[in-house]
Amino acid sequence: MNFINPVGIYFGLEEHPKVINICSHRKAIILCSKRAYTSIHSNQDLNDIVRSLRSHMYYILESGIPNLCTLNKLLSANTYFDADMIISIGGGSALDYAKCYKLYLGSRLSPRDFLECLCSDKSIIAGSKIRSLAIPTIAGTGSEVTPYATIWDLERFQKYSLHSSSCYFDFAYINPILSESVSSKNRIYAALDAFNQASESIWNTNCNDISYMYAVEAIKLSFRVLPQLLKNDLPRSQVQQSLNFVSILAGIAISQTQTALCHSISYPLTYKLQIPHGLACAFTTCAVLHSNIPYDKKGYLERLEYDLKDIGHHDDLHQKYVKLLEPFKLSQLVREYVHEYDDIWLLADKMLSNKRAANNLNPAPNLSSILESSWL
Ligand SMILES: [Fe+2]
Repeated sequence: MNFINPVGIYFGLEEHPKVINICSHRKAIILCSKRAYTSIHSNQDLNDIVRSLRSHMYYILESGIPNLCTLNKLLSANTYFDADMIISIGGGSALDYAKCYKLYLGSRLSPRDFLECLCSDKSIIAGSKIRSLAIPTIAGTGSEVTPYATIWDLERFQKYSLHSSSCYFDFAYINPILSESVSSKNRIYAALDAFNQASESIWNTNCNDISYMYAVEAIKLSFRVLPQLLKNDLPRSQVQQSLNFVSILAGIAISQTQTALCHSISYPLTYKLQIPHGLACAFTTCAVLHSNIPYDKKGYLERLEYDLKDIGHHDDLHQKYVKLLEPFKLSQLVREYVHEYDDIWLLADKMLSNKRAANNLNPAPNLSSILESSWL
């Protein structure tokens, strides 16, 4: 068993002075989404971080899923600015681009050679190291603590994955206040993604005793906080704090295990049907759990059921999951993007081709049964 996660995590506003220290007198390129760029100017906390730098340059990323075209533009720009730090502010996409950019700068490859290595699955060696800081503005992906980045070729509908210890950020600064302006819908999808990621790290052949501990804490907290997202009877800041915590815990869990079948199924749902990532993953959560229970050789699902014994005393693990997710009406939300079931079924051949599917406990899942029961 091993567990390696080198990211220095700074959680909460009170950590702000330490983050200032990390950035102080650095020459940084700031990769950010448009929304994050706006919030830098209206948020004193972010403003102070930028002002502590010796010099800085912004690169504002195009919105949408991370893709080769935008990455190529990023790699081909800024050759004159010799940054010694990368700061990434935004959602999962901004963080994915920053990981690629960090690896690119360390590799000393040309943009073309770097993209060629990325697309041909060749390993990329980072010869030099550049300090990096992630400041996520939405709680869910956990990307700030994982060594993975995903880039899509939108023309060929092809997904490329980077998985390298050089992709880890050196530091992650999580300030829940930054996520408070996210829309209710996106907040729910992000929370469902984090819950699903924690779950996927358990029904996963790579699960071990240490990753399990992070995942189970994320799941327990999700059982408390997900219902609050629909009720709106707790202060937004309190809910956001818990969501950020779930995201970090789940992110650390999948940094060791990767995700599994729900994520593999979700990718074509997102790039072909534009179903938001969190919703696309959460859609099959209960059905995938059910199909994995007979393959629980290491006993982590049984252990999860025991660890959740205080929730819905008479329910088994699957029933607990169903009762938690039922109020979100996931199938109805999916129907906002899909006219009929066949639109989903037509993508079935692309749902098991991803490496994530190979992490799943059940090595030969019945896809048709999973999709049909999730749709109903
Ligand atoms: Fe995810």
